Amino acid sequence: MNQLKPALMILFGSTGDLAAKKLFPSLYTLFTDGWLAPQTRVLGIGRRDWSQADFQDTVLTAVRASQPVRGDDVSDFLEIFTYHQMDISQPDDYTALWRTVEHMEEAVGFSHNRLFFLATAPELFPVVADQIGRGQPRVPGSFRRLMIEKPFGRDLASARNFNQHLRRYFEEEEILRIDHYLGKEMLQNILVLRFANHLFEPTLSAEHIDHIQITISEKIGIGQRGGYYDHSGALRDMVQNHILQLLALLTMERPERFDSEGLRDAKVKLFRSIRHFSTDILTEAVVLGQYATGPADEKAYRSEKGVDPESTTETFAALRFDIDNPRWQGTPVFVRTGKYMARRHASITIVYKQSAYPSLPQPAEPNRLIIRIQPAEGVDLRYNIKKPGTELTAIPVEMDFCQTCNFPGQSAEAYVKLLMDAWRGDLNLFTRWDEIEATWTLIDSLLDQRDDLPVYPYPAGRDGPEQADEMMSRHQRQWLDV
Ligand SMILES: NC(=O)c1ccc[n+]([C@@H]2O[C@H](COP(=O)([O-])OP(=O)(O)OC[C@H]3O[C@@H](n4cnc5c(N)ncnc54)[C@H](OP(=O)(O)O)[C@@H]3O)[C@@H](O)[C@H]2O)c1
Repeated sequence: MNQLKPALMILFGSTGDLAAKKLFPSLYTLFTDGWLAPQTRVLGIGRRDWSQADFQDTVLTAVRASQPVRGDDVSDFLEIFTYHQMDISQPDDYTALWRTVEHMEEAVGFSHNRLFFLATAPELFPVVADQIGRGQPRVPGSFRRLMIEKPFGRDLASARNFNQHLRRYFEEEEILRIDHYLGKEMLQNILVLRFANHLFEPTLSAEHIDHIQITISEKIGIGQRGGYYDHSGALRDMVQNHILQLLALLTMERPERFDSEGLRDAKVKLFRSIRHFSTDILTEAVVLGQYATGPADEKAYRSEKGVDPESTTETFAALRFDIDNPRWQGTPVFVRTGKYMARRHASITIVYKQSAYPSLPQPAEPNRLIIRIQPAEGVDLRYNIKKPGTELTAIPVEMDFCQTCNFPGQSAEAYVKLLMDAWRGDLNLFTRWDEIEATWTLIDSLLDQRDDLPVYPYPAGRDGPEQADEMMSRHQRQWLDV
């Protein structure tokens, strides 16, 4: 096992939700698994007037909430954390920060490997990136990497603007744009399923596949994130990034090279072949919804904290994507995602074309390949057998591989994988600028006409508005409950 190079991780937003929920627990996993070199340090930044002890207590509480903690390890782990209070919107505050960075590096005696992590409000990304770019140029022989949380812009123009800003100071390979979905075990598994089996890949084309369904649903509303979400909505929050990445991994051509450039080239090519939302297909291809109160008296979206009482922000989107390339022409991809739906669930269902077997009294059901992403992970294959007995009848049966049951606790948490790859400089799971550009170009073709679309209410706890079911009926399909 090659330990990760010693580095200083400088975490902007260390008092926030992402740090507590994902980053501290993931760092603990890396620490206890022996990946972190002894000189590794984390400098946490926040506005709160916290002491060193307050910060380390927060880290400990966050780690304890996620996994059992070993007493002997944990004090060594907490030692790597230092807190620095500042207002990151104030350029003057950076002088003291860079002094702290220098002192920490001198104390452990390592060179200038620095991993900057931007886990703060997106409005602050440009100012922080600017200050890092100016104040901390890359030191020859060391690495400097900038990890940026989503969202990367709110449309093509703002994303381009931000990117141009970044490129003044950073090389493309120093910018690690995070889409944490790519860190999920089952998304990486898509590539293995496709390219390490001969079974599926030759069948993944319009010749064999009737359609594909992708669902990412959440069982809860927006919680405390109203202020952010009301300016975002499902299209920006889920579709432009997570869903399109998933779709690309599933439908892209075989990469010419299985390295980060080859993989991302293949994805970009795919993104560019997805049909844009022109006016004539808009209402047939898109249904937007917003949760209203439900049977258990759930709060309606418009009554949530931080949300405009007249808001038309969509908390649900159902879309039809068409891929205009020879492999997929004619096979639609239906996508739905939303808040406050019936259950928390993410999956892909690939529905095969119906086979013709004239001797059967009833046509056999189409085969289905189901990739379960969360909460349970696994791969199911649905196919037909002859129903035992004297008559010739076909019945569907399932071969279900439950990854969660077969390898309990072994799937790496997305942020463990993402942090490890960032440390190593492995860019596979980070989105390159041209991916962002292509996905925003596509989603902008819809956002430009967004005001012409109705936003249908749906009761909390239902899988979106009825209009999403009607859209599927018009396309002679139905949402499958897998
Ligand atoms: N939370 C998640 O599950 C999640 C998932 C995916 C992506 N993200 C992304 O991750 C980023 C962070 O999200 P979050 O949920 O962790 O946000 P959050 O809970 O609101 O935390 C924001 C952090 O930024 C700090 N901050 C804000 N203004 C500051 C200033 N002027 N100076 C210094 N520090 C400042 C806050 O420090 P103080 O509190 O001390 O002021 C806090 O540590 C966002 O871009 C979000 O979109 C979050």
